[in-house]
Amino acid sequence: MDLSSVSLEIIGHAVVSADGRIADQQRQMPAMLRNDKDWSRFQAALDRAALVVLGRLGHEAHPNPGRRRLVVTSRVADFEEIDPQVLLWNPAGLEFDAVLARLGITAGEIAVTGGQAVFDLFLKRFTRFDLVTVDGALIPDGVPCFSTGWPDEVLAQAGLRVREREALDPGVRLEVWRR
Ligand SMILES: NC(=O)c1ccc[n+]([C@@H]2O[C@H](COP(=O)([O-])OP(=O)(O)OC[C@H]3O[C@@H](n4cnc5c(N)ncnc54)[C@H](OP(=O)(O)O)[C@@H]3O)[C@@H](O)[C@H]2O)c1
Repeated sequence: MDLSSVSLEIIGHAVVSADGRIADQQRQMPAMLRNDKDWSRFQAALDRAALVVLGRLGHEAHPNPGRRRLVVTSRVADFEEIDPQVLLWNPAGLEFDAVLARLGITAGEIAVTGGQAVFDLFLKRFTRFDLVTVDGALIPDGVPCFSTGWPDEVLAQAGLRVREREALDPGVRLEVWRR
């Protein structure tokens, strides 16, 4: 199936500190990155999505409220359906387009929620990236959103541009990057 012609949005979702980090040194997301308005917006986006893609650690840490999750992991050879809500996927064993074909997903939104290695993996495929920055937060030794640099530089380098801006709260900014 040629997926280049279908109306599929692949949307990254990240909330970062002013220095571009998604988690602290212990790979935990600190409370200072939490914002109620962003959380509601994020949850609504996940509810809309045909599929939520996330790393295995995030999957194990966060209970699934019934969404269809594609869990990125090296613990399977290619693809394994644990139940209708939990699908394990190893990108080294199967192309993402083949996963979508197998799941019968040809349109709608795919929400990619990280962490870093998962954001890196999808960088060239994002059609949109919702980047929320908490200006007052700094996590100098934390985990960067992308392994290759500051989020705005990496997204621009990947061909995305800021198309919309919204102040969610004082000091909490949403930028919508698109191709
Ligand atoms: N601020 C934000 O927007 C944001 C977003 C996401 C996460 N976070 C935070 O970041 C922390 C978790 O992130 P994390 O990076 O430590 O873990 P993670 O991305 O949730 O999971 C990492 C795991 O995903 C699998 N994985 C990732 N890329 C892979 C690839 N290309 N091929 C095969 N497997 C791959 C590996 O699983 P296996 O070990 O099974 O191979 C790896 O150990 C949490 O604190 C979370 O709250 C924050």
